[in-house]
This record gives sequence, structure tokens and C-alpha cells, in this order.
Amino acid sequence: MLDRHQFLEKRALVLTVAILVVVAIGGVVEIAPLFYLESTIEKVKGVRPYSPLELAGRNIYIREGCYVCHSQMIRPLRDEVERYGHYSLAAESMYDHPFQWGSKRSGPDLARVGGKYSDAWHQQHMINPRSVVPESIMPPYAYLNNADLSYDDAQAWLVANRRVGVPYTDEMIEKAVADIRTQLDPFADDFDGFMERYPKAQVRDFDGDPRRVTEMDALIAYLQILGTMVDFSTYEPEENYR
Ligand code: HEC
Repeated sequence: MLDRHQFLEKRALVLTVAILVVVAIGGVVEIAPLFYLESTIEKVKGVRPYSPLELAGRNIYIREGCYVCHSQMIRPLRDEVERYGHYSLAAESMYDHPFQWGSKRSGPDLARVGGKYSDAWHQQHMINPRSVVPESIMPPYAYLNNADLSYDDAQAWLVANRRVGVPYTDEMIEKAVADIRTQLDPFADDFDGFMERYPKAQVRDFDGDPRRVTEMDALIAYLQILGTMVDFSTYEPEENYR
């Protein structure tokens, strides 16, 4: 056996070709099935595309570089699950372009921060983090409170996301600008239609000033939906994912 292997070891070129063949077999076995699977993501009830206001908040989150200090991925490890809640499912970020998983945390993971605090807490925390968490090293973002949200091009945000696979319907795109105002007003005419388009969306004024649509409104709407789309009291992993 060893003698025969010497044949390979003494001929550099033959050895190189043999190595390439072996590596290629491994590569094909791993990669080829991915082209035949419709999806590698488990379908999970409740996950839906972001509403235009949430998407606006997400754009601000990315613009401000919040991801530099915050991840959005709870790992299936005991310490993480006990601190943050159920570990993140792939489906929960399937409509995130780009995803916000991250591996560095100067601040806590935010994947399930929705509902953890009141809107007023978030607002105060953004204006001056030290006023609610004295030992915080998070920078203040007070200007978001005074910045009017620019959303004339909301349709374009949805169109761009649809191009990369987010299933926004024509109706969602058509109503994108109006839906931003609807989500901020529980008495809006199109409330029912909006809730049908974006189930479980939280509808209210988020920054305490109903006269204005601010970047703070959008960012808090986004933070409050994070991790709340899936109902984990009834969630059962599909057979293949157990
Ligand atoms: C320089 C790093 C840094 C940046 C940038 C940063 N944060 Fe933080 N963040 C922290 C730290 C540290 C904490 C923990 C202390 C605290 O609560 O203030 C925190 C806490 C938070 C919390 C509370 C989380 C919890 O579970 O208690 C939220 C929400 C939050 N940040 C949102 C944001 C948003 C939104 C942005 C961008 C606009 C942002 N952060 C940018 C460092 C950062």
C-alpha cells in the first residue's frame, strides 16, 4: 500500500492533480445540493417583510452604524438564550438586506429587543443613553428626534428590496408612502388594510409628537418589531431542523 502511495508522493504534478480531484469531489458533494433546494431556510409562521416605517427605521439603523456595536443574532447557547430569549431562526432575518447578524457586541444583542422597553424609554435612551443607563458607553442620537423623516421615495425602498427577493406586492409598493402615515395613526382610514398587509404591526405615534414624522418615529418602530414576529409559545421546528 505504502509503495503504491510513493508513486504519488514522488511525482509532484500527479500528486497535485490527485489532490485537486479529491477536493473537487468534496466541493461537489457540499455545493451541488444547494442548487436543487428551493430554500435552505425553514418556513416559520409570522415572519413578514418590514412595513415601510419599520424599513425606514432599519435604513436609519444602518446609516447610523448601530451594527458596529450591536448584533442581531442570538446563538443557541445557554447563556445567550437565558439572557436574550429564544435563539434566532434563519427565517427571522430572511427579509434583511443586508442581514444584521454581526459578531461583535459592544452593546447587547438587539434581535429580541422589541417590546422589552416602552417607546418613551427608547426615545430617552437615544437622546441621552446615560440618563437611563448611567454606566452606558453608547453615543447619543438626539438629533433623530428633530430630524423630519424623508419618505417621498418609500416606494423605491420596497422596489429595491423586491429585486433581491422580498415578496412586496404591487399594492404594498403603491401604498408605501401612505402606509408610513397610517402606521403612526391608529385612527387612520386605511388601518384595516394596513394590518392585513403587515400583520402584528404596531400602530401608534412612537416619538410622542403626532404632528411630526421624525426619524425617531421610524427607528423606534423598527426596534419595537425586532424579534416579535414569531410566536414562540406555539413555534415547533420543522422535522428536518430538529
Ligand atoms: C459605541 C457603541 C454603540 C453604538 C454605536 C450604539 N450602541 Fe446601543 N448600546 C451600546 C451599549 C454599550 C449599550 C448598553 C448600555 C445601554 O443600555 O445604554 C447599548 C444599549 C442599547 C439598547 C438597549 C438594549 C437592551 O437590551 O438593554 C438599544 C435599544 C440600543 N443600544 C440601540 C442602539 C441604536 C438604535 C443605535 C444606533 C442609532 C445604537 N444603539 C448604537 C453601545 C452602542
